[in-house]
Amino acid sequence: MIELIAATNNANKLREFRQILGNDFKVMSLKEVGISVDVEEDADTFYGNALKKAKVISELTGKASLADDSGLIVDALGGAPGVYSARYGGEDGNDVLNRQKLLKEMDGISDRKARFHSTIVLYFPSGEVIRAEGNVEGEILYEETGDNGFGYDNLFYSIDLGESFGTATEEAKNGVSHRGRALQQLVEKLNQR
Ligand code: IMP
Repeated sequence: MIELIAATNNANKLREFRQILGNDFKVMSLKEVGISVDVEEDADTFYGNALKKAKVISELTGKASLADDSGLIVDALGGAPGVYSARYGGEDGNDVLNRQKLLKEMDGISDRKARFHSTIVLYFPSGEVIRAEGNVEGEILYEETGDNGFGYDNLFYSIDLGESFGTATEEAKNGVSHRGRALQQLVEKLNQR
């Protein structure tokens, strides 16, 4: 059993980590270990932000820490919102404003191709870093579809699932998602270690 601390205040990500990693891992939240910090995501790459979050939490706790930095990459918008996905609408973590801005920017655009990306970092107190990545391909919908998930989920049509992440079950989404794929790669790397 591998014990690690999830370097996130996002309850949705924490739930996905636990579901995807299953019983071989004990995933503890920041709350459970009595830590209240919001690590500033000031790097301009997914890896830079994930590394920063995992390192800060591992150094604070003396335990292994797992961080994800993720976002939505839209081809017709030159890769935006990308690493700035959480604050695209102007307010950090405001999913409603983020989706409104995305729909506005995509108004009149017929090339809807997009993907979610996740970079995962597992940082050990020894300084060892394991890095993993995952992507899921899709298209930006013309309107919000479904109430499941979080962030941009209900504007994302998954090609693998043939439906919006907003209507997919959590299990279905985690089976194909960027975070699901990155975590599977992480587990493979841990097994080869
Ligand atoms: P960060 O990794 O905390 O910087 O935030 C990533 C942002 O990307 C989130 O606030 C969401 O807006 C978006 N995002 C990342 N993963 C997902 C997902 O699985 N579904 C929907 N939106 C996501």
